[in-house]
Amino acid sequence: MNNVLVIGSGGREHALCWRLKQSPSVREVFCSPGNGGIGEDATCVTLRSTQDIIHFCGEHKISLVVIGPEQPLVEGLADELAEKGIPVFGPGKQAAALEGSKGFMKNICAKYHIPTAAYGYFTALSEAKAFLKDKKYPLVVKADGLAAGKGVIIAQNQKEAEEALSGMFAGQFGDSGKSVVIEEFLVGEEVSYFALCDGETAIEFGYAQDHKRVFDGDEGPNTGGMGAYSPAPIMTPPLREIVMQTIILPTVRGMKKEGIPFRGVLFAGLMITADGPMLLEYNARFGDPETQVLMARFNADLFEALLACSKSKADGGGLDKVKISFRDEAALCVVMAAKGYPGTYEKNTMIRGTEHANALDDVKVFHAGTELKDEKLLSNGGRVLGVTAIGHTIAAAQAKAYQGVNAIDWPEGFCRRDIGWRAIKMA
Ligand code: AMP
Ligand code: GLY
Repeated sequence: MNNVLVIGSGGREHALCWRLKQSPSVREVFCSPGNGGIGEDATCVTLRSTQDIIHFCGEHKISLVVIGPEQPLVEGLADELAEKGIPVFGPGKQAAALEGSKGFMKNICAKYHIPTAAYGYFTALSEAKAFLKDKKYPLVVKADGLAAGKGVIIAQNQKEAEEALSGMFAGQFGDSGKSVVIEEFLVGEEVSYFALCDGETAIEFGYAQDHKRVFDGDEGPNTGGMGAYSPAPIMTPPLREIVMQTIILPTVRGMKKEGIPFRGVLFAGLMITADGPMLLEYNARFGDPETQVLMARFNADLFEALLACSKSKADGGGLDKVKISFRDEAALCVVMAAKGYPGTYEKNTMIRGTEHANALDDVKVFHAGTELKDEKLLSNGGRVLGVTAIGHTIAAAQAKAYQGVNAIDWPEGFCRRDIGWRAIKMA
């Protein structure tokens, strides 16, 4: 039997803990730091440093550490744990650069012929501005490094592009904007595609669509994601095969050739264009809220699948023998956020009724930004809950998820009322 430690505090980590706990070979799941709801499914602990994590792993005989968010991956937490012989799910610092540096990701794409938008990469404002002349608009300007989802600006004309560049080089996103990618604007439908990787090969790990805009009808500013559903009807079996053969496998093989094998989950943000699927971005971690719907449908041993990625074949790991499957039913997640998000919002507001939502058939409330104080559930962030449901169709899952939402009493919160609309319209 195995003990697992999950690092993170979001809805993604709650969903991973919930599924890991159901693995037949798992005894106990710990989560650091966790949140006000993860305690329902795991033991929350607060580990403040890498040293604390290493010590905890020894003390509690941890068989696998699962790193949820990008920041610790890009900072090299996986390398530090692996050096101590602790099996870890998530890539090392160099491989995590697929997410941490858009320039690095685009160079890998260029070198290994992976379909992506045409681009230029610049480290000086003057050169970047010179590149803008005679270009077709809109054009996409991206800060090279991590910018919490805010470092991408779609410029409608040269003036907007110049302003975006000036902001980035002036330090609007800190060091993340000291180099930039300028790329062609792609038209199509966006899909989140996931693949588990063991450094040599990859297997598909589901796909989903999320709603990035804050308001109904996909209006308003971008957010971390206001809801998601899976499967995404646009992803036909032939299209999935094209993604695996032209995007995922060339990346995994290319990274191995570079001497920086990628182990963990590759989350490809895809644009399904008229010319086929193109890569918008890579993330080196699971998506949030996509993971909530993937875990609702996941139907295999999550611990075994994640552990297999942590070691090379030579060390007894590898995905060759791993079998995963997903339930045929659809899953849909509605994010409940604090009023004002993604701008300023209040914290410490009281949430009631999550137990009523959880008592509904096929509904599970994943916590993102919550905190338990004196047995009261309080909001503690922008995206606060992910009410997730399964059903025979996306419409059925949607109806149940909103039943769950309606059972929750949180006057200071709001959610979109149309999650899944595109898929339901297609059906
Ligand atoms: P990224 O962080 O690179 O995924 O960009 C954030 C969002 O910006 C994506 O989810 C897209 O909606 C949009 N985006 C990024 N790159 C492009 C592109 N080349 N063409 C059109 N939209 C894009
Ligand atoms: N939902 C998008 C992300 O996790 O980056």
